[in-house]
Amino acid sequence: MNLRHYVRDIPDYPKKGITFYDITPILSSPEAFQYVMDQLYEKYKNCGADKIVAADARGFIFGAPLALRMGVPFIPVRKPGKLPFKNRCVTYDLEYGSDTLCMHVDAVDPGDKILMIDDLLATGGTAEGMVQLVKEAGGEIVGCGFVIQLGFLDGDKVMKAAGVDHDFLIE
Ligand code: PRP
Ligand code: MG
Repeated sequence: MNLRHYVRDIPDYPKKGITFYDITPILSSPEAFQYVMDQLYEKYKNCGADKIVAADARGFIFGAPLALRMGVPFIPVRKPGKLPFKNRCVTYDLEYGSDTLCMHVDAVDPGDKILMIDDLLATGGTAEGMVQLVKEAGGEIVGCGFVIQLGFLDGDKVMKAAGVDHDFLIE
């Protein structure tokens, strides 16, 4: 399957000069969505992850079904003010602006082996923020998967600098 056909490029959204990579065509095709989930499962089924950590909001779409299929807990990393228990938070740079991500303090335990999932690696700001949250909690990242990597941005370098091996389905 050519997954790229299921990603719609929207120019100048949400700001002039930014192209938005819209994954909703994947979601509205059961075949494409199933293909993505099968690819992620095959890649990570033997990675040894104890838990999957995924980013609010689009990361949840892929991270949650993968966690169910792998039979591991799902940990949501959320935007501020959404998680009701004690939070640890980090602020990170985004392709357009900056943002903060939070995780429950008891979500990742020291020594946990973590698989990180998100839909898109662009500047790497979000993923770097997630790495920081997991590491501050004492977790070890054993895998990190994206549906799309934007090769013309610095995400790849940022992940290498963070010491995380990542993978993606399309570029
Ligand atoms: C998008 C995307 C990734 C992130 C990638 O999330 O889902 O999480 O940007 O960009 P980066 O590598 O430059 O950080 P966004 O925060 O726009 O919101 P959403 O997932 O809630 O739609
Ligand atoms: Mg996101």
